[in-house]
Formats: sequence, structure tokens, C-alpha cells
Amino acid sequence: MQGLTATLLRGLWYVALPAADVKPGAMVAKTLLGEPVLIGRGRDGKVFALRDICPHRGIPLSYGKFDGDTIACSYHGWRFGRDGVCTEIPSLREDQKVDASRIRCGAYSCVERQGLVWVYFPKADEAPSGREAEPPALPVFADDVAPAMSIMLPFPCSTDHAAFGLMDPTHAAFVHTSWWFKKDASKLRPKEKAFEPSELGWRMVRHALPPQNIVYKLLGQNVTTEISYRLPGLRVEEIRGDRHAVVGLTAITPVDNEHTEVWQMFWVSMGWAKPLRPLFEHLMRVFLDQDRVVVVRQREGLEKASPRLMLINDADTQARWWMRVKDEWMEAQEAGRPFANPLKPMVLRWRS
Ligand code: FES
Ligand SMILES: [Fe+2]
Repeated sequence: MQGLTATLLRGLWYVALPAADVKPGAMVAKTLLGEPVLIGRGRDGKVFALRDICPHRGIPLSYGKFDGDTIACSYHGWRFGRDGVCTEIPSLREDQKVDASRIRCGAYSCVERQGLVWVYFPKADEAPSGREAEPPALPVFADDVAPAMSIMLPFPCSTDHAAFGLMDPTHAAFVHTSWWFKKDASKLRPKEKAFEPSELGWRMVRHALPPQNIVYKLLGQNVTTEISYRLPGLRVEEIRGDRHAVVGLTAITPVDNEHTEVWQMFWVSMGWAKPLRPLFEHLMRVFLDQDRVVVVRQREGLEKASPRLMLINDADTQARWWMRVKDEWMEAQEAGRPFANPLKPMVLRWRS
């Protein structure tokens, strides 16, 4: 946490991109967790993820041609299936026997759900088996419902600093100062919220939202919210009224140990909200960019002086929980035992 880099967690599912960003017969090359990853969608509509390196001479397979079923490398035309297995070596003569099926570029488990493409990054010694538990399901919406709004900004910071920003309850009045979201820093109010451990993290216990707020009124009566945080960097907010529901996801996906993609998405049950997508996405981008500018400036300081950083009670308690949950994940993996959540229910108090 002190410096510019973070330890990246393995044995978990990560949000790679929105499913709509990869069309049938298309491929997208990305760096995720420091690894070159090629994400594609076959003509049959199924998504897949391969290690984006040709095992012959190392050129990224993403420079090759994808016919909707197999990828031909751009250098010597070796062909790979969507399972990463080599199916053809064009240079071979009839009497030259090479068992192509033993040549593999490496495949990742890849699942499309709720309009997202998730990729599983196995533990160091874990053979890809397809047996990994499923990626987490978001509440309320069915498997085939995609987010109504979705943006991503690259943050030049580690996943730890991105996560701290995500779970920081006290920066809004100083950072998020657009006219439509202005909180006056001179009018900070005392806050008190109950938290409890939840799967791979913790959650802010469901509580009522102010009924006089015009935005919440759109969801009907008795509007409540629950916010959960879980490894490997997912913040899920579920806001429900008696008429409508909104689910927000912020997902931090490491590019490498000091660069992070921050995804912000919303699923909504109100049909009228969908045509307003460009406006909402603009506002989401303005808002998220305020967080991005903070980490750009923070990096300036960390690069110059590598100061010793502080976490104070109670405002930074969730940042401390993030590090504890992460440490436990790594220790459990090391020892080959199940993850045991180290957190206890707690009420946090701050001013914001
Ligand atoms: S480098 Fe890919 S086929 Fe030779
Ligand atoms: Fe923020």
C-alpha cells in the first residue's frame, strides 16, 4: 500500500470488458494482470480468452486473422482454436509429422454474464480446468440483462490506491465538486453506518435513503441501499424502491501492478433511462475523472518522495479492511486452505 505498486491477487475472476465491446467474429487485445490477453467472440456468439502470444515466435496472436472459429498467426500462419490448441501448421509437408494438438498458446476461463465478460486468472500452480467457481452474480437483474450505462477510465495507480478511492467515505466534498454534485466542504455532517463481513469482503448494511431526495423518489417508496465490497476490487451498490431498482458496479481491473482500469456501470429497471445513456455516461465520466485526477496528482507525490502513508480511524477503516482481506486471501492460497473472512461487524463514524 505504501508505494506505487500493489500485489495482484490470483485465483479470482476479473471484469475484462462489457460484452457489447466484442462483436461476433471480433477480437480485442488487452493487458490484464500484466499478461497479454486476447478476448474474442466466435461466430456462434461464445466468448473466449487466450494468452495473446504465439508459442512459435512470440508475436501477439491479435495481429492474426480470426475467421470466427480459429485464429491464424500473422507470422507463419499457425492456426489456433478458441481453446488455445494449435490445429494447423501450414509449413509442414505430408511426411513431416508434428503433433500440433500438443502446441498450445494457453486459454483462460471466460464467461459472459449480465453483459460483462469475466476472465479467471488462475493461481500460480493451478492448471486451467474450467472448474473454477463462477464469477460473482450481481443482484436483481437476470443473467441476460446488460448494463444500461458503462464507462471505463484508465487510472495510473495500483489497484490498492484505486480501491482506497473506491471505499473512501470522506473525499466527496473535496473531490467531487461539480455543480450537480456539490457538497459543501464547510457543511460536513456526522455519519454513522453499520458494516458486516460478506463474501470475500464486507458490506454496508442495508439502510433507508432519504425519502425527500428527488432522485430516489424515481424508484418509488421505501428506497433502501446496500453497498458491498469484495475481492478482487468490486463495489456493488443495490438501490431498491417499491417500483424500481438500480444496481451500480465499480470494478477495478489491474493492467499491471501500478496501472488499473476502473469500470463504472449501472443496470436500471426504468425503461425511460436507457435513451438518456449518453447524458448519464457523460456525467459518470466527469465524476470518475475527478477520482482519476486525484490519483494522477497522488502519483506525483509518491514518485517524488515515497512518503510513509497513514490510515486513520474511522474514515480509513475500510481501506485497512481491504488490506486485511487481501492478506488473508494470499495466506489462504499459500497454505492451501479456504479463505476465512477476518472481519467482524462494526459501526463506523465519520464526518462527510
Ligand atoms: S510466430 Fe506465430 S506462427 Fe510463427
Ligand atoms: Fe470518488
